[in-house]
Amino acid sequence: MCGIVGYVGRQKAATILIEGLKRLEYRGYDSAGLAVLQNDGIEIAKKTGRVGNLVKEAKHHRFTGTTGISHTRWATHGGVTDANAHPHLSSDGKISLVHNGVIENYVSIKKFLSARGYTFSSETDTEVLCNLIAYHYAKEPADPDQSRFVTSVRQALRHAEGTYGIAVISPEAPGEIVAARKGSPLILGVGDNEFIVASDVAALISHTQNVVYLKDGEVVHLTPKDFSITTLDQEDVEAVVDRVTWTVDAAELNGHPHFMEKEIFEQPAALENSMRGRFSEDGSTAKFGGLNLGPVEFRQIDRFVFLGCGTAWHACLVAEHLLERFARVPVEADYASEFRYRNSPLSGNPLFFVISQSGETIDTLGALREAKRKGYKVLAINNTVGSTIARETDGGIYQHVGPEIGVASTKAFTSQLLVGAMLALHVARMRDMSFADGVEYVNALKGVPDLVRRVLEQAPRIKEIALRYAHYSDFLFLGRLSLFPIALEGALKLKEISYIHAEGYPAAEMKHGPIALISEKCPSVFFVPKSEIFNKLVSSIQEIKARNGKTIVITTEGCELPPGVADEIITIPDCHEAVLPIVATIPVQLLSYYIAVARGCDVDKPRNLAKSVTVE
Ligand code: AGP
Ligand code: GLU
Repeated sequence: MCGIVGYVGRQKAATILIEGLKRLEYRGYDSAGLAVLQNDGIEIAKKTGRVGNLVKEAKHHRFTGTTGISHTRWATHGGVTDANAHPHLSSDGKISLVHNGVIENYVSIKKFLSARGYTFSSETDTEVLCNLIAYHYAKEPADPDQSRFVTSVRQALRHAEGTYGIAVISPEAPGEIVAARKGSPLILGVGDNEFIVASDVAALISHTQNVVYLKDGEVVHLTPKDFSITTLDQEDVEAVVDRVTWTVDAAELNGHPHFMEKEIFEQPAALENSMRGRFSEDGSTAKFGGLNLGPVEFRQIDRFVFLGCGTAWHACLVAEHLLERFARVPVEADYASEFRYRNSPLSGNPLFFVISQSGETIDTLGALREAKRKGYKVLAINNTVGSTIARETDGGIYQHVGPEIGVASTKAFTSQLLVGAMLALHVARMRDMSFADGVEYVNALKGVPDLVRRVLEQAPRIKEIALRYAHYSDFLFLGRLSLFPIALEGALKLKEISYIHAEGYPAAEMKHGPIALISEKCPSVFFVPKSEIFNKLVSSIQEIKARNGKTIVITTEGCELPPGVADEIITIPDCHEAVLPIVATIPVQLLSYYIAVARGCDVDKPRNLAKSVTVE
């Protein structure tokens, strides 16, 4: 959620830290701060609000040092105040810390430390951990090999319950950072006599593409010349340096006003990337390198379970529809956060899939661990190489759509839909789907980037519609079958970025309750594609029109709507059922984007939201 950036090297740390924080802004936060070691001491600046506020505040300080840590905070313990912002400094002035996560046993630690004279100037759990490190530092004898600093961090962490990604500095250890993680992501960028530690790759790719993905329970000790990784039990860990394939461009706006717009328009290319190299030579099925499951094992699977949160859960619902429809196999799609605690009885031989763009969502990770604990195989559909979920699953499918910076998921979602459709084909072809149907399906998938391009060409018209509807404060999104999840997604997009109340419903359910909301003040966005239930969908719109509701109808080419049922019509190409959810998503993304922009909302950084939710 929040972000950490730490730097050790030869350059001015403050410049690099602030640039890194700007690249992490998309993750969601409410305050920011930095601390730099200089002149045998430490200089700290912190401020609530955007990184821009911190930049202004930093002008009152003279940051010259080349070692520092910084943070964007997403408050969990204590209000959004300058005092609660990180970095924190221990009451003896020896330790400064930034922290991402929650120290669950902070109350008892605080009591212990208070009794020993430590004092606190914030309400955070983080400051408690900071003082706990200082306590151990004070107890550790100074040693010639200078490991006192890293030892005291390890000692303190052994007593910390909960989750953390931390970066720690001490005025007594100039040129050093100690960083560690448990449950919160942390990546080490390895440069030429310089190192950056950060919560995600976006903060470091402009400096280096060589990275080490730190694992839970690991502690890294950085100096300008070297780094070493150990476990909490002080065992040495051999570092594996990976190369990031994302480019700096991928994390920049490149002329777009918002990342969300950039990412919406990137979708044709993103979908190509998700498909590349993933069709069989005979063109009748999909193939995946990382599933680690052969056809025999696949045949024994009698049920699929898909788990995810938010938008990713909507992708789970579409995968459920397509696997049941084409592979004729029972599927359950569940919120990861609910599955984790519901303890539902599982029989037979299910295969689990978790879907997550970031690969760090704590609820999804919890569900994955719960399923694995029960002895089930869990695979992932995931966009972030080296993420915790990618590492903990037994295999999976990478989405390959590059970094998604906009908090509102767009290209990652359509890519999840595509991967789900490919998976349905893969399984269907092992069951009853014929070669000819497989070829038709593959051709439909290959054609989807072009279909998406055709919908994107309608952006100017969709913008006009958006401007006509931007002042409404309630919306309904209605769809059936595979477009019911897209109705949910349309409503979520609108809520997230424009703060308009919106509800997604299966169209036929409307008459069982939500119809009470219908009036000229509550427009409905209605999916009415060509299908066997076209007439039923039209009847549902008539029910809205009979109650003076405004309707924005998204229909497919060739459908004839009776006169008067649609106030606005957006026509998308007629297409194969497997790709319809992808194509139908584009207009609702554009609609919510343009509405939010018209209302002056901060589209890429909506209030209260975080890109990747790493706390429960
Ligand atoms: C998407 O627009 C949302 N901000 C949110 O629902 C998101 O999809 C959800 O938090 C899951 O994230 P993940 O895919 O990174 O696990
Ligand atoms: N729990 C800490 C706080 O409230 C860290 C929150 C975060 O992850 O930003 O300050």
